[in-house]
Amino acid sequence: MRDQLLAAEKVKAIDWRDGVLYLLDQRVLPFEQTWQACTNVADVARAIGAMVVRGAPAIGISAAYGLAMAVRQRLAEGDDWEMALEEDFELLFNSRPTGANLFWALNRMRERLLRIKAGDDVAAIMAAEAVAIHDSDREANLTMAQLGVELIRKHQGNEQALLTHCNTGALATGGFGTALGVIRAAYLEGMVERVYVDETRPWLQGSRLTAWELAEAGIPVTVNADAAAAHLMKTKGITWVIVGADRITANGDVANKIGTYQLAVNAMHHGVRFMVVASSSSIDMNLESGEDIQLEERSVSELLEVDGKPLGAGVEAVNPAFDVTPADLIDVIVTEKGIVERPDTVKMAQLMCRKRLH
Ligand code: MRU
Repeated sequence: MRDQLLAAEKVKAIDWRDGVLYLLDQRVLPFEQTWQACTNVADVARAIGAMVVRGAPAIGISAAYGLAMAVRQRLAEGDDWEMALEEDFELLFNSRPTGANLFWALNRMRERLLRIKAGDDVAAIMAAEAVAIHDSDREANLTMAQLGVELIRKHQGNEQALLTHCNTGALATGGFGTALGVIRAAYLEGMVERVYVDETRPWLQGSRLTAWELAEAGIPVTVNADAAAAHLMKTKGITWVIVGADRITANGDVANKIGTYQLAVNAMHHGVRFMVVASSSSIDMNLESGEDIQLEERSVSELLEVDGKPLGAGVEAVNPAFDVTPADLIDVIVTEKGIVERPDTVKMAQLMCRKRLH
C-alpha cells in the first residue's frame, strides 16, 4: 500500500528549496497553478493568514519553515538574536487560531532551539528540524491511510460511496492527506465506487481543491452543495463520512471546517459511519473539551458579496470558519499512533501514551 500511494502521488503544495519556501497558491486553484516564494518569516505569516497555504498540517509545516528562516535572519542581524526571535514566534503563533498543528510545530521548533549547544550550526539545525516535521507528517499520513482502509474493509467492504468535507489532501498536509489519504488508499484497494465532496462554502475548499485533487488521481468524484449531504446519505448509499481535524481535545471532541458538525449529526441519523483522520499533532491534550477551542471567524465579506457585488444594506452575516463535533457523534478517530473507536477522555489519554506506528 505504501509503495502504491507513493507511486500515485501527484500534487505537491509545499516546497523548501535553497532556504526559500515555495507555496502553491491555494486561493487561485484550480484555475491557476501559481507558486508564491516566501523568503522571510513575515512572508510566511502573511501567506498563512491569507490562506495561500491552508489545512492545519500544512500551516504547521509552513510555520516551521518560517521559523527556520527567522533564525537565519536573526543570527545574521547580531547578538541578541534569541530575544528578537520571540517576535517571530509571536507573528507566526498569531497567523491563524484554530488548527493545533501550528502551535505544535512551533513548540517543537522551540524545543529544538533549547537543545542547541555551543558551536552548533543553529540555522542548519533549525532548517533540518522543519524538514523533519514535514517528513514526519507525510509518514503519518501513509500510516493513517493504511489504518483507515482496514476499518473500511472491516465494516463495509467494496464498492462504496464515501462523503468528505473541505480539503484534507496533499494540499492541506505534508503529502497524501489525512481523510483524503484514506480515501485515496481505499480507491487503490478497489473499495470506492464514488466520492461525494461537499463544496464547502464559503471558501469552496471542496469544489475547488478536493475535487481537483481527486480528479487528478482519476478517482470518481461528484461535487454537491453542502446542504445536499443529508439527502445524499438517504438516497445514495453513503457508507462513510470521512473528514480531517484542525484540533482534537482531550475528550475526543473535534474542531474542523464549518459544516462538519451537521454532517456528524446527519450521519448518526442515517446510520452512516463517521471517521476523523488526523495525526497526533492535531491533538491538544491541554484542552479538556471542544468548548475550550478558539474557533476562527472570517470576514463577513465572504458571505455578503455575490459575484463581487454587495448584498443589500441592513443585511448582517456571521461567518464561523470551524465548528466542533462532539466526541459522541464520532465512530472512530484514526491517527498514526493507532485508532480510537467511540473516543472519550480515557481512550484519548491511552492513545497519546502510544508510540507512532512507523
Ligand atoms: O480553513 P482551512 O481550509 O485551513 O480549513 C481546513 C480544514 O478544516 C481541514 O479539514 C483540516 O485542516 C484538516 S486538513 C488535513
